[in-house]
Parts: sequence; structure tokens; C-alpha cells
Amino acid sequence: MSEGTVVEVKKALSGAIPAGTPVTVRGWVRTRRDSKAGLSFVALSDGSCFDPIQIVAANTLANYADEISRLGSGCSVIASGTLVASQGKGQGFEIQASAIEVTGWVDDPETYPIQPKPHSLEFLREVAHLRPRTNLFGAVTRVRHTIANAIHRFFHENGFFWVNTPIITTSDAEGAGQMFRVSTLDLMNLPRTERGAIDFHRDFFGREAFLTVSGQLNAEAYCLALSKVYTFGPTFRAENSNTARHLAEFWMIEPEIAFADLDQDASLAEALLKYVFKAVLDERPDDMAFFAERIEKTAVSRLEGFLAAPFARIDYSEAIDILARSGKAFEYPVAWGADLQTEHERYLAEEHVGRPVVVMNYPEKIKAFYMRLNDDGRTVAAMDVLAPGIGEIVGGAQREERLDLLDARMAQFGLDPAHYQWYRDLRRYGSVPHAGFGLGFERLVVYVCGLSNIRDAIPYPRAPGQAEY
Ligand code: 4AD
Ligand code: MG
Repeated sequence: MSEGTVVEVKKALSGAIPAGTPVTVRGWVRTRRDSKAGLSFVALSDGSCFDPIQIVAANTLANYADEISRLGSGCSVIASGTLVASQGKGQGFEIQASAIEVTGWVDDPETYPIQPKPHSLEFLREVAHLRPRTNLFGAVTRVRHTIANAIHRFFHENGFFWVNTPIITTSDAEGAGQMFRVSTLDLMNLPRTERGAIDFHRDFFGREAFLTVSGQLNAEAYCLALSKVYTFGPTFRAENSNTARHLAEFWMIEPEIAFADLDQDASLAEALLKYVFKAVLDERPDDMAFFAERIEKTAVSRLEGFLAAPFARIDYSEAIDILARSGKAFEYPVAWGADLQTEHERYLAEEHVGRPVVVMNYPEKIKAFYMRLNDDGRTVAAMDVLAPGIGEIVGGAQREERLDLLDARMAQFGLDPAHYQWYRDLRRYGSVPHAGFGLGFERLVVYVCGLSNIRDAIPYPRAPGQAEY
């Protein structure tokens, strides 16, 4: 009996291997159904692509009665056989099994949480360790990977360097005071019996330290030497993240470019997003077709439409006029000087423009201390990219490169310059106009997949009431 080379299900289904070739595939059973003619059809997934492959097992196989006929959802197997053109419609190839080895049974099939039926997303969040076995989370995981890969490729092809910024830090990069504190837990020198009584909440080797909210300030330092850099890493916010678009732990991509202004910053965001959308459409057609069919019917068409048209760009002041004239009854008031709420952002992107829109030049009072003051003295060179269905996915700005104005903004925000000396140095030694933005990775995943809750865009969501695993 020929075992055949081990191949990914993706490759077996791709047509790259001629029919008649012996192959071995390994994975987890989705379903098994039996025909009256003494055949069992096992749908086997290894996660390499959306579709499982069908394994056809005849009741003449040695372990048919004892094992194959008892296979159910979640069992792991190694199946060998001949790749053949599928008789059934839809699938191109299947495997006529010569041997199926069961590597792992499911303890109690009745209580196995991932049954072959639709599950609610709320339920699946409770079994975050098993949800990757569903169609939906398999697809989200592959698309998330493809987006990350495309982002790195985009920057690499455009001469950017990836800079890894610290996770533990003493500076509040947003000046918004929404940080998690870091404390040490060193029990090594204590006898086990005394460990329960210890004060767990000591600080970071004698200093107060926090988990970073953004790598931007550190990235600026590298930008002012390497010209084009970006970060891609986890960030943490102790804000009330009990919403469908906030996480306490999320990943952010933060490019920073030297000798650049706000318009160039917005153009960079546009180029990056378009590159990502094109990559997802080109590289994940099977997963995207699933999202369009089952999750959000415009999942594919809106990305295609977005690729075809330039970004809309409007000023904050203009956005306020549009909202005021909309005749909509918003929950939060619309007035110049107030921050845009999600309902406002979604109106602008979904109803007014019908596609993503960049809003620029916000009132200085509602934006971060590092943003460059415009000549009007009342707005800063900030920009947010708002996407239909979610609102803000990108927040960025041209940075205040003039030390006197930066100091004035820090004083206005009540920030202690002592904590920002190194950041001030960047304005003292060879300062240049520069700009950058932060792209929320999970918000981008939500947008691309058409999800409605950000907790489904990250493997293990961290949010109020959700810290297991
Ligand atoms: O607008 P934010 O707060 O900007 C910054 O952090 C800047 N330092 C970025 C920069 O200019 N380098 O956050 C940037 C993006 C938001 O547009 C949003 O997509 C995402 O990060 N984001 C969150 N995503 C999930 N959960 C949260 N709690 C988020 N807070 C921000
Ligand atoms: Mg923002």
C-alpha cells in the first residue's frame, strides 16, 4: 500500500497534483456521512484553505467498523489514498482512502462544543480555544494573516523599516491617561508557605511603568534618522472598551514619515489600505466569498468599489456642516469643537460619502498634544480615516516639530515635560516636519471581513469581562 506524500488540503484541492497520485492528508473531521452502498464520506479540514477535502472510505478498510464508522466532528486523522476527480458537484478533487489512521478521538461527541451546525458568536467567544475550528474563525484567521503579511510587504516595497517599540514604558504616548500599570511579581526567594501573604503590586524596578498605548513617540525618534519607519505590535488601553469596536489589547500599525505633511500622510494611508484590500481579494477569494455569502453581502463588492475610487477628503469643519444639515436625529449633539462620535463617523462614511472618507484638521482642543497647530490657531493637522460599518480605522497627524509650540501644547494638556525630555530632544536636534498615523489592526480585520464585533477579529479578545486564556 502506497502512503503517498503528505500534502496540505489546499494543495490537494488546487489541481496542482494530477489525479491518480497517492497522497496523505492530515487534519480534523468536520462531518461524516455514510451511504447505503457501504461508503463513508469524511470532510477533512487542515485549515490551509476554506474548503475541507472529501475522503471516501469503503467498508472494506480494515478499521472501518471499529473506527471509521465512528468518526465524528473534531476527531483528528491521517488519511492516505489516491487523489481522484470528484464525482460530486462543487469540489474538484477527493481522496479514495486506502488507510485512515485515527490520531485523536473526541472524548464525548455529545458535549463537544463545535457541532456541525451554526453557533452564535457569543457562544463561540466562550470557547475561544475551539472556535478556530469553525468555518468563520478559520476564515478570519487566514484573512488576518494575509492582511498582516500585505502590510509588511507594502512597507518593505516602499522603503520603510519595521521598528519594534517597547511594550513597557513610562510615557503616556497619547497623554490621555488610559494606561494599565505594570507591577512585578517576584516570589522566587520566598518560601511557598509565605507567598500568599505578599503584596503583589510592586512597581517596575522602582519606577512607575505602564503598558504602551502607542509606539508613536518611539517611532518618531527612528523616523528622524531612518526617514520612513513603521511599528506593528500590541498596544493596550484602559478605556471603557465595552463596545463592539474597542479592545483593551489590540494591535496597531504606525508608520512615520520624515519631511512630510498631512496630505502626504493621508495619501500614505490610502495607498496602504488599497494595497491591503487588493491583496485580500487576490489571495483569499475563498474566504472572502464565504464572508460575502454568510456575514456581510457587500464584503467583496465594497472592497472592489473602494479600490476603484480615490479617498474622499473633507475638513472637520465641513463634516460638521454636513452633519448639521443632514436632518438626522443624532444621540450626541453636533457642534464645532465636539469630537465626532461613532454615529457621526458612520453617517459620513456610509450615508454621505458611501465609502471611506478622510476627515482632516480637527479642533486642537479635542486632539492629542503632539499634533501640529495649524495657522488658524484653533485646529491641528490631524486626520482620521472613517470606514462604513465601523467608523474610525485610522487616526493620524502631522507632528508638532516646533519646540516652543510643543511645550505650550504639553502645558495645556497638563503633561510633565520631565517625562518627555527625550521626545523634546527630537525638536532640539535636527527637527523636521513629519507625519504618521495609527491603523487599528482589528478594526481593519472587522472592516475587511464584514464582522460586527471586534472581539471576533482577534484570537483571544481582552475586554471588560473577557480575560480568560
Ligand atoms: O487614534 P488613535 O488613538 O491614535 C494613536 O494612537 C496615534 N498614536 C496613532 C499615530 O498617529 N501613530 O489610535 C489609532 C487607531 C484608531 O484609529 C483605531 O483604529 C485603533 O487605533 N484603536 C483601537 N482599536 C481597538 N480597540 C481600541 N480600544 C482602540 N483604540 C484605538
Ligand atoms: Mg483616534
